[in-house]
Amino acid sequence: MKKDLLKLLDLSREDLTLILNTADQLKYEQKHNIHRDYLKGKTLAMIFEKNSTRTRVSFETGMFQLGGHALFLSGKESQIGRGEPVEDTARVLDRYCDGIMIRTFAQEEVENLARYTHIPVINGLTDFCHPCQVLADLLTIRERKAVLEGLKLCYIGDGNNMANSLIVGGLKMGMEVAVACPEGYDPDPQVLDFARSGPGFRFSLVRAPQEAAAGADVVVTDVWASMGQEEEKAVREKAFAGFQVNEALMELTNPGCMVQHCLPAHRGEEITAGVFEAHSDEIFDEAENRLHAQKAVMYLLMGNREE
Ligand code: CP
Ligand code: NVA
Repeated sequence: MKKDLLKLLDLSREDLTLILNTADQLKYEQKHNIHRDYLKGKTLAMIFEKNSTRTRVSFETGMFQLGGHALFLSGKESQIGRGEPVEDTARVLDRYCDGIMIRTFAQEEVENLARYTHIPVINGLTDFCHPCQVLADLLTIRERKAVLEGLKLCYIGDGNNMANSLIVGGLKMGMEVAVACPEGYDPDPQVLDFARSGPGFRFSLVRAPQEAAAGADVVVTDVWASMGQEEEKAVREKAFAGFQVNEALMELTNPGCMVQHCLPAHRGEEITAGVFEAHSDEIFDEAENRLHAQKAVMYLLMGNREE
């Protein structure tokens, strides 16, 4: 494992498997009331330049459960909001803390933060990717389907941070990945290059959601307007009409097909209320698994491991 978790492109399949296996183990321990202070005395600084419910609560709770402490720094209220360079903030936090989780806009800011610190930096969402979320998604799918390899993962909607991480995570784990986006809303070119480069990768980017959903084992979607794109909402609603995960689309999938949504969801937009509720157990398992997946990441990156 590298020092940081900045994007799934940086991780090998072995790294991903190690995180998922560690998450399974930590989840088992929590469910069986086995408490071990793997991160006793350690502090995680959490920088949020965007809103959050799940990421904040799961990192903070996860840190507490591992015997450590997490502290919340809002982009607006810290000196970052008044323009203190991220390189300076990084070098200060490096002296106080044992890890940094950051949610922000530009991926470069996170990469820059990692370059200026000796402590691990964990990406809690950027415009480019959402690696922690996709680790939780992979964990949930593997829990319910027993394997990842060979399953068809279908993503419908915006080629955003979620799409980027799902494509990379899914392909690295041997899944077939089919993405349907309207023209002009494709995933990042770096991710498309990756998807089209790998020997043995099964990847398609299509314009018809029905084509991507056919024979799918997992359907994933996300909001049409991400954080920071609020002003594009009306334009996006038009562009994404027809890119909804609804009952008719689910008819085309394999029996037992799962649905995942990172949340928050907009019923009646990217997903119908009916499909959401029919798959709510899977979706809220996915939300729960943020906790277990991130505890695994923190354990692996911040713990005092022998190896
Ligand atoms: N899925 C997710 O990252 O949720 P929050 O925005 O609530 O953290
Ligand atoms: N794509 C969404 C994910 C939220 C968890 C956003 O970036 O707002």
